[in-house]
Amino acid sequence: MDEKDICILKKLYENEYISGEELASLLHVSRMAINKRIKSLQALGYRIESAKKKGYMLVDKDLIRIWEIEGHIQSSNLFKGFIYLNEVDSTNAYVKQNQQYLPNATLVYAERQTQGRGRFSRRWVDLDKGIKMSILLKLLLLDLEKIVPFTLFTGLVINRVLRKHGVESFIKWSNDIYLNGKKVCGILSELSGEVEGFGSIIIGIGINVNAKNVPEEIKDIATTLKAETLHDFDRTRLIIDILKEFERELSNFEKYGFSYFRDEYKSFCINLGKEILVNGERMLCKDIGKNGELVCEKDGKIVEISSGEVTIRF
Ligand code: BTN
Repeated sequence: MDEKDICILKKLYENEYISGEELASLLHVSRMAINKRIKSLQALGYRIESAKKKGYMLVDKDLIRIWEIEGHIQSSNLFKGFIYLNEVDSTNAYVKQNQQYLPNATLVYAERQTQGRGRFSRRWVDLDKGIKMSILLKLLLLDLEKIVPFTLFTGLVINRVLRKHGVESFIKWSNDIYLNGKKVCGILSELSGEVEGFGSIIIGIGINVNAKNVPEEIKDIATTLKAETLHDFDRTRLIIDILKEFERELSNFEKYGFSYFRDEYKSFCINLGKEILVNGERMLCKDIGKNGELVCEKDGKIVEISSGEVTIRF
């Protein structure tokens, strides 16, 4: 998809109908060329129909407004690159493979993932009309101590944005976002480069947004924003708000670390006070430490957990 295709999508989005002639004259190309481009957009999954004498019409307007995200990135002090992909194996894998060519603070978004990756080598099930994106941050000192709090920080930012959009979401340590007891968002942070040297962090974010339902295989543990709230969300607005909030708070995270966000994190963390299983071991979750670690009690002793799979026993 190139800038001309993006311009066609923008015009289709903004108008009920737009004629082939109008598009052709706007883009300084022939009617035939417009026809060809419309066909290839349809092949990518955009539902465009044509009506005699009226022109083309975008039937389903739930699309990512690439032009708005590009506009936001251009005005951002942090983000320097944006790549929109219709389909990719995994946005995290894409960033990893191409990071030497990508500027620091690049956002890679994909409408579909064929091999989306989750934590603990799991698969991230690809739902229609969701958000699947990765942020590349380069030149971070890969000090392992800062990585756990950094992923917690990202989860907090997303929870905050969802709440601004009216969603009553919560955080399950370390950075899953839950709604009505089921997962709506997962974050996979991957490091690349040397520990304690210069390298990069890839933050992969998957949010289940406007799919009506989730497949049978995950329906007991996962849900979508739409399934829970019974309305559609503006995915472009959500993405831009996440980027804005991330950028706005990153300097606070860099200056003060996780402790700056700890109270807010704790107020939304569903693990606190619950009996949980950490890698299969039963414990009582007592607190979130100042670096974001899970503080638990096991057989009368305090244990601090900084990574691992946590299941809550409700
Ligand atoms: C988890 O909860 O297990 C983490 C899921 C992370 C999914 C996102 S979708 C975008 C990015 N690309 C991937 O392959 N995974 C992350």
